[in-house]
Amino acid sequence: MTDTTQTERSLVLVKPDGYRRGLTGEVLRRIEAKGYTLAALAVLTPTREQLGAHYAEHDGKPFYEPLLEFMSSGPVTAAIIEGQGCVAGFRSLAGATDPTGAAPGTIRGDLGRDWGVAVQQNIVHGSDARESAEQEIAIWFPDHA
Ligand code: RTP
Ligand code: MG
Repeated sequence: MTDTTQTERSLVLVKPDGYRRGLTGEVLRRIEAKGYTLAALAVLTPTREQLGAHYAEHDGKPFYEPLLEFMSSGPVTAAIIEGQGCVAGFRSLAGATDPTGAAPGTIRGDLGRDWGVAVQQNIVHGSDARESAEQEIAIWFPDHA
């Protein structure tokens, strides 16, 4: 089980669908309401290099190219969040990957749906482990690595 007594960091992205729909504030509100701290915040359109590094684990999968195309289709908001257990805690706030089945109360469950496109447009990304969080922070916020 994760040691939740230690303060940790996670990397959150409000993906282009969330940004376009004006949901950035709602996502950040939920993070703050949960009690996590915003340690860094940036609005940027991701480069192919950043996305290739960020999604290296998915290289070769059928949704990889559509995913990179979607993720570079407009601005995202990147955030470093901080707090005890925030890696697992934000994954819990985000909900299941497929927004159709994501539980009500979660970001994806409350705000997401199937848009009939090649890749899940599910509003947010959150790191899935402490190690990946630190790797992802180095990609999006090299000054905070
Ligand atoms: P994320 O990395 O974005 O936080 O999401 P996740 O862990 O819940 O999902 P992951 O398996 O890491 O997949 C990364 C992102 O790729 C898109 N995807 N689309 N069409 C599909 O079946 C499919 N599968 C994955 C989603 O945007 C997913 O969040
Ligand atoms: Mg993932």
